[in-house]
Amino acid sequence: MSQPKNLYFLKLQDFHLPLAELESLSFFGFEISPEQRFVLSDQGVDISDSAFFDWGGKILIKADSYEQYLEALGEAKINVCDARIETPSAGNHPKVKKDVLFEVLEHIEGSFDLSQPNERYAICRDHHSWYFVKIFSEKSNRMFEHSKKPATFSSALNATSARVAVNILKNAGSDFLDCGCGSGSITLEACHSGLNVFAIDRSAHAVSMTETNLKHFNYTAELYNKELKDWNKKHDSAVIDFPYGFSCARDEEEELQSLSLLFPLVYQSVFFSSTDLCPQMEAIGYQIIKHKVMKYPNVTRHIIHAVAGRK
Ligand SMILES: C[S@@+](CC[C@H](N)C(=O)[O-])C[C@H]1O[C@@H](n2cnc3c(N)ncnc32)[C@H](O)[C@@H]1O
Repeated sequence: MSQPKNLYFLKLQDFHLPLAELESLSFFGFEISPEQRFVLSDQGVDISDSAFFDWGGKILIKADSYEQYLEALGEAKINVCDARIETPSAGNHPKVKKDVLFEVLEHIEGSFDLSQPNERYAICRDHHSWYFVKIFSEKSNRMFEHSKKPATFSSALNATSARVAVNILKNAGSDFLDCGCGSGSITLEACHSGLNVFAIDRSAHAVSMTETNLKHFNYTAELYNKELKDWNKKHDSAVIDFPYGFSCARDEEEELQSLSLLFPLVYQSVFFSSTDLCPQMEAIGYQIIKHKVMKYPNVTRHIIHAVAGRK
């Protein structure tokens, strides 16, 4: 059997697992298991927009024992240039100890730069094998900057959830609608991913918050103070982050109406809601791709990814 070519490392807090499962599914076509922090894949995936994947790299060496690993490193005559070597460990993966790093360094030629590396490598270990990896894709820190947006309110979605929703949908096409944009958490992530973003909200205050945030991060999007019932433009995908109390009151009847209004406008959609809307969505004609539940201390959010009805 051929060996996977690449290894991807992800970091997450346990309560984020449902979101990380969704992201892994959209990047690799399968969900990570609860303790899994390395993904092995032949696909070369750009994880720079990821919420959870820290980096992805090409596997240069794989060995089933540490002795074989050091031997293979020596034989490979690896020459690095201003490199930093990481020793990631997380989940239930065995730790790579510091003395391993020093021993590995004895088998590698070249120059090192820990603060501003030109190349990054990693020594990784799972329960079966040792890997030496050259990192080719790294996470950008933009999501963390977005979480400090200047205009916000108590119903704002966190940047991590917004990031995952955009990552799930960006393969559906570049024309994207943030429906009920509020302070614009989803709009900012979609702009960062280079999508052609439309954002609507029936609240003028919400629209002005999103406008402030777009200006702050120097993004452009088409922004409208409109209700969904007055919107008939078609898009490749859309997100609705439904009101769930706090500063915006929840209205169950209106949620159903919004599901029906959006259905003919888009190919795919993601909904954030406080209850399971799958049965109502299926009755309208949506095909559910994935449904996950996030439990926060005061609130439960259902995340539903579905195929909608745009012809
Ligand atoms: C939970 S908030 C969205 C928060 C947003 N994702 C953020 O991160 O700030 C829901 C938003 O949907 C808007 N909204 C609710 N129903 C709407 C409708 N039918 N048409 C347009 N906007 C709507 C509300 O005004 C509110 O700003």
